[in-house]
Amino acid sequence: MSSDSQRKKISIGLCGFGVVGQGVYRHLIERADELAARLGVSIEVSRVAVRDLNKPREVPVPAAIASDDPLAVAADPQIDIVCELMGGTGRAREVVLTALRQGKIVVTANKALICDHGDEVFAAAREGGGHVFFEASVAGGIPIIKAIREGLVANRFRRIYGILNGTCNYILTRMEREGGSDEAIVADAKRLGYAEADESLDVDGWDTAHKAAILSFLAHGLWVGTDEMRVAGIRRITQADIAFARSFGYRIKLLAIIERCFECNELAVSVQPTLVPDGLVLANVNDVFNGVCVEGDVVGTTFYIGRGAGQDATASAVISDIVDASSVLQGVRGQFIPDEAPELLARDARVKLASAERIRSRHYIRLTVRDEPGVLARVASIMAENAVSIATVLQRENSIENAATLILTTHETSFARLDGTLAQLEEMPTLLEKPVTLRIAEFSD
Ligand code: NAP
Ligand code: HSE
Repeated sequence: MSSDSQRKKISIGLCGFGVVGQGVYRHLIERADELAARLGVSIEVSRVAVRDLNKPREVPVPAAIASDDPLAVAADPQIDIVCELMGGTGRAREVVLTALRQGKIVVTANKALICDHGDEVFAAAREGGGHVFFEASVAGGIPIIKAIREGLVANRFRRIYGILNGTCNYILTRMEREGGSDEAIVADAKRLGYAEADESLDVDGWDTAHKAAILSFLAHGLWVGTDEMRVAGIRRITQADIAFARSFGYRIKLLAIIERCFECNELAVSVQPTLVPDGLVLANVNDVFNGVCVEGDVVGTTFYIGRGAGQDATASAVISDIVDASSVLQGVRGQFIPDEAPELLARDARVKLASAERIRSRHYIRLTVRDEPGVLARVASIMAENAVSIATVLQRENSIENAATLILTTHETSFARLDGTLAQLEEMPTLLEKPVTLRIAEFSD
């Protein structure tokens, strides 16, 4: 690495040249002059690592700089900034730690890695004298990390909620518009470069959970494990749920909800398909777009909407980090970097996770039951035994012979009471499928 005063160019090592890597490479080349003028130094991709050098690509890897050894790229003393765009928490973790231990700057879009190994990664940055930037890890092209970390630094955050997964929003939007099932739609999300290599991370809610963990850490200084959150995806949403939503003035969105009670010092993080009243901003954030609402105690409510996945949106966020990293390399320090001062983020070290008794919401429960006398009465009695108050009940015909669909909504209740109810419902011999539950949002934007 050259010293700040001698620096004529900044060398980038791209580890990963798939959807995101190719986008970053293409836009860095297209914007090279503008970026150089802004930074006073040119940014050059000096090495690229992939798994399979012979794979055909839309943007071919320039042979002279190609490698199939990302660790060698991470360790190369000529490389200033290592962009980890491989995904996963195995080799990607080694690449990031190798670079940080050598005092390099890492830019990553890898939310699974930051969520699962954030402490280790930040510690490696502190100890090695490097830094890690990860804007592209949450909400694609929306600069939500910058907003929380810098723009809204004066605030405490009572609630942050929103749509954080482009693939799920794309699937739900098309299911609503086209009335079809989601298999072909998932295939399209993959083809368009929205989905993770393992799309179950998207569809089962884990990708949203990784992002919610990162936002919780930035806002509240506490790492919440995905096993400590309530996480549900969209796999079991059917046209029955969409039809209910439509007739009662809701849209179904997969929402991450991060709620902080400052009086009791508790934090609750959940990821659930949610019925959102269709007049609200979030209900109208469609396709691959993400939408995040951040409620600050000083600024009030703020909204951020933009493309949450895909090559260009993600490249935009990665390049913003590359530019910040380049400024740091040149000795210009504007940005707050969490790896440097995690204690500043722990705004109150006593914050703890709220128990299921303390988290309250309204809920939607869809049951597929045997169509016979006494079933509805039994369901009502289980809800009464758990002190869950029913708001509405609907019975619909079901395509399964001798079956009926029961759709119930509840008044506000705790997650503990909901869980008790579901456990008892699942023991009913007349229940034909595991219940489907949705949260009912009562936000007002
Ligand atoms: P991708 O298209 O699957 O690309 C992954 C790239 O990494 C490929 O070039 C692959 O090489 C390379 N790679 C993977 N494992 C490797 C290994 N062990 N050694 C060498 N190279 C390896 O994935 P992507 O969609 O670009 O996503 C990359 C990262 O960005 C992930 O962390 C993802 O979560 C994140 N992200 C993606 C998006 C999006 O919209 N796609 C948005 C935000 C964040 P080959 O090409 O040879 O297989
Ligand atoms: N698979 C992710 C999504 C990519 O669909 O949101 C962006 O993080």
